[in-house]
Amino acid sequence: MATAAPVKATPSAPPADDNTTGGKLLPGEHTLPASWWTSEKIFELEKRAIFNKSWLFCTHASRFTKAGDYYAFNVVGIPFFIIKSKVDGELKAFHNVCRHRAYPVVRKEKGSSIVLGCKYHGWSYNSDGKLTKAPHFDNVEGFKKEENSLFLLRLMSHLMD
Ligand code: FES
Repeated sequence: MATAAPVKATPSAPPADDNTTGGKLLPGEHTLPASWWTSEKIFELEKRAIFNKSWLFCTHASRFTKAGDYYAFNVVGIPFFIIKSKVDGELKAFHNVCRHRAYPVVRKEKGSSIVLGCKYHGWSYNSDGKLTKAPHFDNVEGFKKEENSLFLLRLMSHLMD
């Protein structure tokens, strides 16, 4: 995932829209400004400072019992899915974006398939993210399937004994 420069998120004093004091806070204490709960700017900051820089807990590895089992997610606007690869049996995470015209490759929250077919123009990927079929591209000069795999995301998985 993309990273961004660190952004300072802590105010030095309560802003003017902080209406939570009401005499209930001790001197020197303050809460987050109420506007932060709905601010689009703060949400963008949180996406850059937290979600794009941290590991995200998504699911439990035990939910993937056979090759092709997948679960799709959309975390702060980033669509991705995790699938159990038939190639090596490992869990892999990919952006849920077809390399052709960016249509979602998987459209259900969960499923099982070792062939992931994009419904838009029929490109297909295997459970390892490799492009296996690209109709009408066989004779396109310079086109190489091996250069159009799904974009891989870093994934860490643990199975507890
Ligand atoms: S967008 Fe997926 S095949 Fe065209």
